[in-house]
Amino acid sequence: MTYEFVSQRDLPTFQHFSIRPVSGALGAEIHGIEIAEDLPQPVIDELRQALLEFKVIFFRDQPLDNDRHLAFARRFGTPQGPGAIPQPEGYPMIRRQQYDQFSKIGSDVNFHADDSFRTYPSKFSILHGIDMPGAGGDTIWADMEKAYAALSAPMQAFLDGLTTEHSLMKSFGMGILRQYGVQALGNMMKRNPPTIHPLIRVHPETGRKSIYASELLTDRIIELSAKESENLLQFLYRHSYSPEFECRFRWENNSVAMWDNRCTQHRGINDFFPAFRLMQRIPVVDDQRPSFHPEQEKRLEFGDAPYVNTEELFDTRPELAYGHTTGTTAG
Ligand code: SIN
Repeated sequence: MTYEFVSQRDLPTFQHFSIRPVSGALGAEIHGIEIAEDLPQPVIDELRQALLEFKVIFFRDQPLDNDRHLAFARRFGTPQGPGAIPQPEGYPMIRRQQYDQFSKIGSDVNFHADDSFRTYPSKFSILHGIDMPGAGGDTIWADMEKAYAALSAPMQAFLDGLTTEHSLMKSFGMGILRQYGVQALGNMMKRNPPTIHPLIRVHPETGRKSIYASELLTDRIIELSAKESENLLQFLYRHSYSPEFECRFRWENNSVAMWDNRCTQHRGINDFFPAFRLMQRIPVVDDQRPSFHPEQEKRLEFGDAPYVNTEELFDTRPELAYGHTTGTTAG
């Protein structure tokens, strides 16, 4: 095994805050700063550093209104525009994730990296727990770099270079069809066509490799037959979603979690029904598409845009377009 647990490495020290790792794999609580404040750039730089080190960072007791949540997110990039999840009025870049006795099980109960069905998915997500259950409703993150590093060298070599299709169809298609009919499903897929990503991606800032396929959103491995693809994906999920590669966060009101979708996946735990749970999330758009060669990918410029409509961001290279196949789909 070539990955390191927290106890096997020297923990970094930071000048502007203290850290407390929450598991041996990933995740750290940050203490000593108020993210609602207009933080000086060196503090933001250190937070980015902590995020690269721990992949998900947590803050406690951070009362945030929409403007402060947004101001904090903007220090890390450009937020995503409106999507299917409801938004508070006047804030198209905030996702209001409310669960109550009327909610069905939501998208957050299967592991995923946010928005991987987009050509340009979210780089970071910043989730604020507003009204959280007294017990239950924790969130789990999985370290997809450690999961990759724990595979044998021949398996890594086989996976490197494969590509996958990510689609909303995988988990939401049937539900939309049953509830709203074929036209609604057609409209959803027209607005959110499947996209193709590498199965193994390289982090553009750390150069580390990770598995970029999730049980929520990855349909298939393009180069393999349907049976091969399904069995290999199931193996990768069983391998990756293991407690050794995970951390679990117990929410309180005004807890905040910020994570790097380029190397982690997460899922909420649906054990609080019928209690109320209200969170708001801001997705920060990546300016590069997921890649095995990030140094060769072009970078998009978003300027001062208040938000970016990621459904309008496509890559027109034909080899990356939906429908491109290099393998058989025969079962
Ligand atoms: C999310 O996937 O955005 C939320 C995770 C959760 O509900 O815990």
